[in-house]
Amino acid sequence: MNAAAFPARTAAIVPAAGRGERLGPGAPKALRSIGEIPILVHAVRSLTGCGRVGLVVVAAPPDGVEGVAALLAPFGTKVHVVAGGETRQQSVSRALDAIPEDVDIVLVHDAARALTPPGLVAAVADAVAAGHDAVIPVLPVADTIKSVDADDTVTATVDRSTLRAVQTPQGFRRSLLVKAHTAAGAPTNESAAATDDAGLVEQLGAPVRVIAGHPEAFKVTTPFDLILAEAVWARRQGTGGPQNGGIEAPRGRGTTDD
Ligand code: CTP
Ligand code: MG
Repeated sequence: MNAAAFPARTAAIVPAAGRGERLGPGAPKALRSIGEIPILVHAVRSLTGCGRVGLVVVAAPPDGVEGVAALLAPFGTKVHVVAGGETRQQSVSRALDAIPEDVDIVLVHDAARALTPPGLVAAVADAVAAGHDAVIPVLPVADTIKSVDADDTVTATVDRSTLRAVQTPQGFRRSLLVKAHTAAGAPTNESAAATDDAGLVEQLGAPVRVIAGHPEAFKVTTPFDLILAEAVWARRQGTGGPQNGGIEAPRGRGTTDD
């Protein structure tokens, strides 16, 4: 489906107000750079470049709204900046309040997933437009997963064949996302808040559809992830190793058999 044939008004929310504590000392994570381009600018480009998104609302660190607005000024009226909250859930909720009434589909995309291919954004938006009111991109889990107790003793090996690692953008019919956030409130403590928006939809009992994610939609969380992101970006620019335009997405059903 091309952009001209895309009927619904679609907007994106970018939670970018986190401090990036696991990344270590420095600027807020969204303002750190990959290939000398801020993580937040990479993420906004993925969204505006997919041919589906008419407006991006960014939740910025509350003490950095003006700086973020200046950084994103080249995008013009397609990008709007609001102050984020104390938790990711609160940041998304505040940005959701700023989405215009006529928007029908809302994508929520972590700034920290800077190098997400625009094609994945389009696939999520198209799956919502096709009638799935909540859509998330997922990847199979490659590692063996075990549960442990408080004494660091293994209690079980979990059957990973039914597990998936979840990415963003997550796409929603706007009315469902608003209902989910309204029902959940806006916890100020990250340990009481949801780590993704589909989790809030699940709490309503509504179905959440999965589609195939993409390895390059990984979240920059630790210093190692930043090294990986630099390598992926250099490869895309043709300055770092084999130049075939990016990493292949996994094929098939996305299960792990080894
Ligand atoms: N986020 C946000 N508002 C918060 C906390 C997080 O908008 N109060 C955003 C982050 O900026 C990030 C996304 O939510 O784009 C995913 O969160 P995470 O990877 O945990 O980022 P940080 O919270 O910044 O990192 P850390 O938990 O290591 O401090
Ligand atoms: Mg966090």
